[in-house]
Amino acid sequence: MAFTDADRRRAKEIIARYPHAKSALLPLLHLAQDRDGWVTPDAMEEIAGLLDLTPALVLGTCSFYTMFKREPAGSLVVSVCTNVSCLVNGGPSLLEGLRAHYASDDDVFVEEVECIAACDLAPVMQVNYEFHGPVAPDAAVDVIGQYQRGELVARTVSGTSLPETAGSKSGGTA
Ligand code: FES
Repeated sequence: MAFTDADRRRAKEIIARYPHAKSALLPLLHLAQDRDGWVTPDAMEEIAGLLDLTPALVLGTCSFYTMFKREPAGSLVVSVCTNVSCLVNGGPSLLEGLRAHYASDDDVFVEEVECIAACDLAPVMQVNYEFHGPVAPDAAVDVIGQYQRGELVARTVSGTSLPETAGSKSGGTA
């Protein structure tokens, strides 16, 4: 969705914080994602215009960071690591199990990610950027269910607009 006048005012406030407009690129991508739950092509065009950047550069930056979604994501983003430590500890089967379980659930977006620096918890997943591990597929579904029932509090997709949640790393969920 294209920016509204209110979005443009907010974007200009953000840009004014920086000595160079292009430095506001990541905050503006967060702004767009907070609004729509993902960064739409229209929003990328708008940001490129506001910062005098090419749309390709905005897309390239957006695609570099897995925290930015370029397709609609549900309210829960489940990120499963399949890098080395997680690979040898069941990360791929965790990913496969969750993808199958939530294949028809638009509210749970399951994605594969590179190492998320919690190798000691392998295999590890994040639910809206909260760490859980080591976690087996069945236990992972239980954890996600706790978020869906409000028993655990999830951040927004971009993680920029909600207060801290309890415990950034929780172990023993397998
Ligand atoms: S390899 Fe999975 S968190 Fe590092």
